[in-house]
Amino acid sequence: MNWNSRRRALRLMAAAIAGLATACEKKSETQAPAPDAGKSGTSAAPTTENKRSVGFSQIGAESDWRKANTESIQAEAAARGFELEFADAQQKQENQIKALRAFVVKGVDVIAFSPVVETGWEPVLKEIKQAGIPVVLTDRAVEVSDPDLYVTFIGADFVEEGRRAARWLIKEMGGKAMVAELQGTPGSAPAIDRKRGFEEEIKSHPDIKIIKSQSGEFTRSKGREVMETFLKSPEGKQINALYAHNDDMALGAIQAIEEAGLKPGVDIKIVSIDGVRSAFEAMAAGKLNCTVECNPLLGPQLFDAIEAILAKKPVERRIVTPSGVFEQATAAEDIKTRKY
Ligand code: AHR
Repeated sequence: MNWNSRRRALRLMAAAIAGLATACEKKSETQAPAPDAGKSGTSAAPTTENKRSVGFSQIGAESDWRKANTESIQAEAAARGFELEFADAQQKQENQIKALRAFVVKGVDVIAFSPVVETGWEPVLKEIKQAGIPVVLTDRAVEVSDPDLYVTFIGADFVEEGRRAARWLIKEMGGKAMVAELQGTPGSAPAIDRKRGFEEEIKSHPDIKIIKSQSGEFTRSKGREVMETFLKSPEGKQINALYAHNDDMALGAIQAIEEAGLKPGVDIKIVSIDGVRSAFEAMAAGKLNCTVECNPLLGPQLFDAIEAILAKKPVERRIVTPSGVFEQATAAEDIKTRKY
């Protein structure tokens, strides 16, 4: 059976399963509805014949980075004539797993997703593999025992981002600092790796000390809330540097620092990760000192990979997105060419 007939057969099977699933759903009043079914458009109707289809499960909309990432993927899908089944998981792994299963039922050609956390994906990835649908990971990695459960992983090197943030801070602070750390979502690849990279680099600088560390969940509101508690804690007065795993948390923390009567960027030096427009604005205003870039515009790389997979061309196992480090001094000029 060639690929097209196999796809058609899979879709027919998927439509049959979908019909069965709908019937079962009607029977069971206690059963939860399909993941984000209303919001995401992952309803069980088969996809349009002849249009290449991609199911994409996004984590949510927790940060400016994430919003830019979603826009990039949606725009690229439209530009290349793909039918995109988009599902917003609202930060929940269970919603992502349900969305992935809905994509299988729908019989999409390729599944892509940005996993909210690193672990717990093996069973659903095995189901997708059995259905014969290739998987592309974007932005965040997963921990699985079988590497063949996905084709490629496209995204930044988070460990290196953590190292870069540390190198900047060590230099800026002359090798001596009392650091507060705002971590990303617990269990997520960027939170784990950015912490690891930073700690790896400061290990040989014993006077750089992390004296407070907690998750701010990659959001502005939580970043502000956690920074406020840091500053009110017994160690609060010693903090003279902040390392935030993303710009949004740093921007929230800036508000908390100002509310505490301190000058962000001066009394407390701040380095964060992402390089979103509002971080450049904060740098130009002297409130943020440095941002380590993590490019969210993954749409073109993702669809290059998808097109190669569908054309049965070889695809690299790991595609690393390039990035830079930006400082206050050039922020006003840099902002003119920023794309997100
Ligand atoms: O996975 C990338 C991270 O997730 C970004 O740094 C952060 O802003 C986002 O929410």
